[in-house]
Amino acid sequence: METRIDHITGGIYRISSWEEQFGITFNQFLIDDERPTLIHTGTHDQYDAIRGAISQVLDPATLANIVLLHWEGDENGGMDRFMAEAPGSELVGSALSIGLNAHGFGLHERVRGFMDGERLELGKHTLRFLETPHVHHWDSMMIAEESTNSLFPSDLYLQPGDQPPVVTENLSGAMIEAYRGVGIFAHENPVRAVDERIAALSPDWIHSMHGGTLTGESLHYFSQALQEKEFAYAGWLLGRDLTAAAERS
Ligand SMILES: [Fe+2]
Ligand SMILES: [Fe+2]
Repeated sequence: METRIDHITGGIYRISSWEEQFGITFNQFLIDDERPTLIHTGTHDQYDAIRGAISQVLDPATLANIVLLHWEGDENGGMDRFMAEAPGSELVGSALSIGLNAHGFGLHERVRGFMDGERLELGKHTLRFLETPHVHHWDSMMIAEESTNSLFPSDLYLQPGDQPPVVTENLSGAMIEAYRGVGIFAHENPVRAVDERIAALSPDWIHSMHGGTLTGESLHYFSQALQEKEFAYAGWLLGRDLTAAAERS
């Protein structure tokens, strides 16, 4: 695994780890501000590489917010390690992620759930929360950052391959193929509704968790593909064909 860190815009850094066996990068985002914030943690095992990248910019012990956009290994598998190192940090997630999962896993202290429209001030940056259920888990949320007009969409708008920090080309065909092969969305409808909501927000930067950050001008390629093509689960799960298994039973 190779990990690099690049400044994208206005104090937002992309930390990207290339994982050859999955054919995608796993990206985390660091917001350098009075209250330093990490948007998704990576997996438990990626901690050392991600921590090392953060320390090129700021002291990981000063992190104030460890943010997860849904409860999953690559989103928050490293949360306990980052929270242990940064004693002043809080785990931030959707109301569902925190109320159901954090509490259910025994985390009651230093956790904070947010509902749609609520805000969190970091200093120069302001996070605004969007609840986006079923894109792709029922506890999923996304975050708009107001000072840079950014959006953190987690797994929406992913692009396979080892992409540069900023992507402007049309990789929507590869995105759709990846969604079909991996099977992360149960249905197109919740995804299309959220995509329409995002298009109306007209973000300048879309910080994808897998691939590169998209610019506002290139978002329409990806939106159009999501609106027009089928990409929901149809028997393929992380590259395995389960349709024969379904027919057997
Ligand atoms: Fe995910
Ligand atoms: Fe992800």
